Amino acid sequence: MAEITKILTEHIDKPGIETFKVYRENGGYNAVEKALKEMTSDAIVEEVKKAGVRGRGGAGFPMGMKWSFLAKPEGVPRYLVCNADESEPGTFKDHYLMKSIPHLLIEGMIVSSFALGANKGFIYVRGELMYVIRILENAIEEAKAAGFLGKNILGTGYDLELVVQPGGGAYICGEETALLESLEGKRGNPRNKPPFPAVKGLYQCPTVVNNVESIANTPWIVMNGGDKYASFGVGRSTGTKLISASGHINKPGVYEIPLGISVREFMESDEYCGGIRHGHQLKALVAGGSSVPILPAHLVYETAEGNERLMTYESLSDGGFASGTMLGSGGFIVMDETTCIVRNTWNFSRFYAHESCGQCSPCREGTGWMTKVLERIENGKGSMSDIDLLVDVAKKIEGNTICPLGDAAAWPVASAIRHFRDEFEWHITNPTEATKPGAIYRGEPILA
Ligand SMILES: Cc1cc2nc3c(=O)[nH]c(=O)nc-3n(C[C@H](O)[C@H](O)[C@H](O)COP(=O)(O)O)c2cc1C
Repeated sequence: MAEITKILTEHIDKPGIETFKVYRENGGYNAVEKALKEMTSDAIVEEVKKAGVRGRGGAGFPMGMKWSFLAKPEGVPRYLVCNADESEPGTFKDHYLMKSIPHLLIEGMIVSSFALGANKGFIYVRGELMYVIRILENAIEEAKAAGFLGKNILGTGYDLELVVQPGGGAYICGEETALLESLEGKRGNPRNKPPFPAVKGLYQCPTVVNNVESIANTPWIVMNGGDKYASFGVGRSTGTKLISASGHINKPGVYEIPLGISVREFMESDEYCGGIRHGHQLKALVAGGSSVPILPAHLVYETAEGNERLMTYESLSDGGFASGTMLGSGGFIVMDETTCIVRNTWNFSRFYAHESCGQCSPCREGTGWMTKVLERIENGKGSMSDIDLLVDVAKKIEGNTICPLGDAAAWPVASAIRHFRDEFEWHITNPTEATKPGAIYRGEPILA
């Protein structure tokens, strides 16, 4: 088994770690002292680049590269915005981190803001998590009282103000430009890009938007160096990753894993998921939150070419759309043989139809149509042509919208049909059987 290194969660179970006192006693805020007193902004950006840390919000864009794109016109403020909206079904890692060890995020915000030359930062938190918002606000007050925030931090001349903003209560507000609109007090509609936030972001000023987990990595990188961080993981999947594990496993929860362990180890080891719940078999896996393609059991532990599937960005996407998936936001949803794939696909689809902001016709109309067609198949009223209709609608949404919510809605439907077409057909050819309470298709999944 790979060596287990905890970059984010080493201290998470210590009693009182949510307080400034205990966090500080465990080495907390040392990275702020080191960054502000011993390092230049450019040196920190360089370490983050060396670390190779990829954005943990889902897209996996290299964080150091994003930072180096930040425009720096004279006399114009820059902003760091932390994306803590976390509304992707199956993903709950940021929530866990913020409520358990809030000072880690605050410390990361200070170090990262300093590196980017920002004097104001925002943490945009999913609106439903009011208690987390209070925890973060309290942590900010504690850090300020100890001289780590506010004017002239630690006598270095650096000023930083942090604001916690409750989110607008919509999944779309997690899309970074919709988030910026919402932060500006407007409806959370995604913006056309370019310009990207690094050039024109919050209030049209250069802005970096990063996920909670991405930012929480920065104190460790400052203390230990980018090379050390990059020594964990495999290839371009460096460091550790928080995985939100849910569904039909023995030990659901949030786990910090070194990137590169096998999917089988993550699924079966007692250290992590502890295996499929007793007496049941794996049927399917959604590896990176509801937006990513679903994998049938035979492609979970091995790729189509027979290579061992690893918990990395590259290995999970091995096989592309035909036989791979994505690490995404790390929402690991496990389904056993009692799961109806049609019902699950309908369920995901309803979510996207509800959350589509309505700006782009393919997404606004297409998500609604997919949901209606899935509903009738699930309720024994579908026809065979409905299956190809779903594939067609999904194709017309994919790549044709301002933001990736359209893709996120299309991929679960397209992949479910690709891998479980026989189950959709069974619902259509056996409507009486399929609509009996608890009826589940038990046939073999196929790979188209
Ligand atoms: C519909 C939608 C919802 C999203 N929700 C989140 C979210 O809740 N948290 C997040 O960090 N990224 C979310 N993202 C991704 C962000 O747009 C953006 O890529 C991310 O915040 C960048 O941070 P990172 O580079 O550190 O990952 C979402 C994207 C889309 C299209």
